[in-house]
Amino acid sequence: RVHRIAVIPGDGIGKEVMPEGVRVLEAAAKKFGFKLAFDDFDFASCDYYEKHGRMMPEDWKEKIGTHDAIYFGAVGMPDRVPDHISLWGSLILFRREFDQYINLRPVRLMPGVPSPLANRKPGDIDFWVVRENTEGEYSAIGGKMFPGTDREVVVQETVMSRVGVDRVLKFAFELARSTPKKHLTSATKSNGIAITMPYWDERVKEMAKNYTDVKWNQFHIDILTAHFVMNPDRFNVVVASNLFGDILSDLGPACTGTIGIAPSGNINPERNFPSVFEPVHGSAPDIFGQGIANPIGQIWSGAMMLEHVGEHDAAAAIVKAIETVLSQDKLRTRDLKGPASTSECGKAVAAALG
Ligand code: NAI
Ligand code: MG
Repeated sequence: RVHRIAVIPGDGIGKEVMPEGVRVLEAAAKKFGFKLAFDDFDFASCDYYEKHGRMMPEDWKEKIGTHDAIYFGAVGMPDRVPDHISLWGSLILFRREFDQYINLRPVRLMPGVPSPLANRKPGDIDFWVVRENTEGEYSAIGGKMFPGTDREVVVQETVMSRVGVDRVLKFAFELARSTPKKHLTSATKSNGIAITMPYWDERVKEMAKNYTDVKWNQFHIDILTAHFVMNPDRFNVVVASNLFGDILSDLGPACTGTIGIAPSGNINPERNFPSVFEPVHGSAPDIFGQGIANPIGQIWSGAMMLEHVGEHDAAAAIVKAIETVLSQDKLRTRDLKGPASTSECGKAVAAALG
């Protein structure tokens, strides 16, 4: 088995954590007997922008569009290129052009990571947030009328298509079915948003008929955020629209103290296009160049990428190796009060794979 991976480190600490991610993936491939063919690309970075006046070459889709997955670092150097240019010229284009309609983030309490929630130990919190990534509240439909006058009005429409809602629900139910707890939670707000959210609920009910082995419930988004903080152990798979999912997918990792090491996938499940796997954090210009960035978010994203291409055992082994390393004070990086450098931490994860 050979998986072709496009590697895009991007900017800042993306360039420092990416080699560690690749190191661990190579170790996993060796151990589990598959091959990874890496192709490196320097675009989707501010260096590229300064040289070429654009974030990516004209033919970027041909260059990376047939890979099995894209392994991404981070983009953005706000002192050199405005963030809206760097982000919209790279990651946002990937999401749209490659129809990555799932944004997937694990929420998992890890050893060695201080949780802001009291009385929780590793293992207590372990769930997934599945966010709709292409439509919903983040539509471009709307406008401003009578600008600059007392009659100024702005309108922005929410778009929910049957195809768009059903496909994210299907992904979430499939994910729930694949887990031991076989449970799904849907985020809604059908008491206040009286057209689109009841539609979302209706499609959940309809989809659930195909998954009679999966138990499910739903919460209004306001009380759901409270439950994330007070009862995070109740969740298994949480599915939400674009806006609600955006909020939950930051809140979840924050509750486990892992926002700095959290991974994510922007996924096209049918694999018609490559999916992008990247740490949640950005390019961290404040610590770039010191060799102290935590590589765990990048490495964990690599595990999600292996899961996506079907290397389930290797993916699970990497997550386990991350836990082994995080449990040891001397192997953690400075953000987690440890003495390890970026590469010491990365090497330790590779070694822990055995
Ligand atoms: P950031 O995530 O880069 O940094 C926030 C804080 O967390 C900083 O103090 C940083 O030192 C720390 N931090 C982040 N990752 C870390 C790691 N692996 N190890 C240790 N400490 C870490 O967010 P910020 O500062 O708001 O944005 C910086 C640039 O990154 C901007 O240009 C922004 O647009 C971009 N960005 C890109 C993202 C992406 O590529 N997906 C996501 C978020 C921000
Ligand atoms: Mg966000």
